[in-house]
Amino acid sequence: MADTIVAANWKMHKTTGQAIEFACGLKDVLFKKPVSATVVIAPPFTSIEALGVEFKDSGIFLAAQNMHEASHGAYTGEISGKMLTAAGCRYCILGHSERRRIFGEGNALINAKIIAALTCGLMPIFCIGETLAERESGAMFTVLTGQLKEGLNKVTVDDIQKIIVAYEPVWAIGTGKTAATGQIQEAHLFIRNLLSEMYGTTAAAAISIIYGGSVTPANIGSLMAEKEINGVLVGSASLDLGSFLEIIYFQ
Ligand code: PGA
Repeated sequence: MADTIVAANWKMHKTTGQAIEFACGLKDVLFKKPVSATVVIAPPFTSIEALGVEFKDSGIFLAAQNMHEASHGAYTGEISGKMLTAAGCRYCILGHSERRRIFGEGNALINAKIIAALTCGLMPIFCIGETLAERESGAMFTVLTGQLKEGLNKVTVDDIQKIIVAYEPVWAIGTGKTAATGQIQEAHLFIRNLLSEMYGTTAAAAISIIYGGSVTPANIGSLMAEKEINGVLVGSASLDLGSFLEIIYFQ
């Protein structure tokens, strides 16, 4: 069975001081009242090391929001997967629509990053999703197929177990427009069927497929009630501790 994941993507928010304050509060609450979901925080690079110390043995896991595909080298301004594992990361978000759209990352580059992450023991949170224009023109399934197949090129059946797929329709990210649960179910089923074709039904059934796009305390209950939604990737609503706690204690 696929694990339930609740991941916070802080994007370019919070100084290290603010991140530590949030982390201490989260840790205190989780210590008193554990949750069944795996809780993951993706802070900016500058806070990873400090949160690695805060979260040690806490059961809360760290993710990076991006990485470079090379293991090391003359890449000014970049960070490698090895540096991230050494700083305490277990996961790395890859293929986020902001990386695709603003920074021009395509499927081949995302694939290289996924392979590099797996090589150094990082578990990719692999984001895919269509734009509104792609959905409206009927290209959604073609787009999702391309992102999934090209992004997972050369990923083996053993390694696919280490990947979380995040379905994030671009039109629902940061817009306040959550996709309808029926639309999400349809996309997640499509993704799971494609993964079954690629890796077999047993392997595909164990992969967590999570949803991202304007997740809030108000909609988390109905999202998590859907069989095909194995968790959420939360942006804006993860920045406030109170609202993030309402999301992780959705039951
Ligand atoms: P949002 O962001 O929750 O603010 O829509 C989600 C994401 O970008 O992962």
